[in-house]
Amino acid sequence: MQSWLPVPESASTLSGDVDALYFYIWGVTIFFTLLISVVVIFFVIRYRRRNPFEIPRPIEGSHKLETLWSVIPLLIAITFFVWGAKLYFAQYKPAQNAIEVYVVGKQWMWKFQHATGQREINELHVPVGRKVKLIMTTEDVIHDVFVPAFRIKADVVAGKYTTEWFEATKPGTYNFFCAEYCGMNHSGMRGYVVVMEPTEYENWLSGNAGQTSPAAAGRNLFESLGCISCHGANAEGGRGPALLGVYGSKVVLNNNSSVTADEGYIRESILNPQAKLVTGFGPIMPSFQGQISEEQLLDVVAYIKSLSTTKPEQATAKPAPSATPSTGAKPSATPK
Ligand code: CUA
Repeated sequence: MQSWLPVPESASTLSGDVDALYFYIWGVTIFFTLLISVVVIFFVIRYRRRNPFEIPRPIEGSHKLETLWSVIPLLIAITFFVWGAKLYFAQYKPAQNAIEVYVVGKQWMWKFQHATGQREINELHVPVGRKVKLIMTTEDVIHDVFVPAFRIKADVVAGKYTTEWFEATKPGTYNFFCAEYCGMNHSGMRGYVVVMEPTEYENWLSGNAGQTSPAAAGRNLFESLGCISCHGANAEGGRGPALLGVYGSKVVLNNNSSVTADEGYIRESILNPQAKLVTGFGPIMPSFQGQISEEQLLDVVAYIKSLSTTKPEQATAKPAPSATPSTGAKPSATPK
């Protein structure tokens, strides 16, 4: 993208498409602004009053003309809509085979955690040419992750997970900003996405290895909070649903509806267990609201995800292949 254009650098697979739509809308707007201005000026001169006693000819109106100037703008507006909707779906369709990064915003910093355990603050290292999916929440007020060079922006809302994804197309360092006013140091709540060549990224990962993975930390919490007594790997106790293979599967609830067990569902089931009761189980689980931080919650979610090999978007495809990481086997196993 040339620098004279009024857009930031373009560095993701979708940023070119976003710019194209932007320039299209911009072009149409400028065209009609000029057209209408010129016509107004022309009419003012052409039909000006020439002598004080002049009486204008009455105008009857024209259905043809009115139809024409209603239908043409409608068709143009529909192109905005269709193009915009297409782009929106491309942007918000869950990314397949993405590297997952957990993001927790708090006044006034960003914490990132990679599935392999590396933790970062206000800096995110990713490889070029791979989809990266951010699973985001906040410890306090609403924040917003905005990466201009990737043309992505999404609110980070307390009490739920929001996601966004990008695929960087060239190595470099790109600004990201908090784009939701969140208090005194909002303007300082910013950082960098460092996009690296794959080999460089591998080096970075191994250079920062040795940190506990979210799934391993989650397993420790799962044991220390006593979850394991009802949700043992095979749920021998039978007091709570078995969690092996639950992530990404369809769960049947006691009102006969069903939900896909994604990150949000797991989170809700920990904080508000009675909200969606699995069929055949009583409302006996206590809430863990207030006993567990957002980061710990993400760890437990990562652990439960590691007990499964399916992804929510493939939920209906097949039951989890018999990959059964027993609770102790491979704590760092990343959910694939
Ligand atoms: Cu966080 Cu503004």
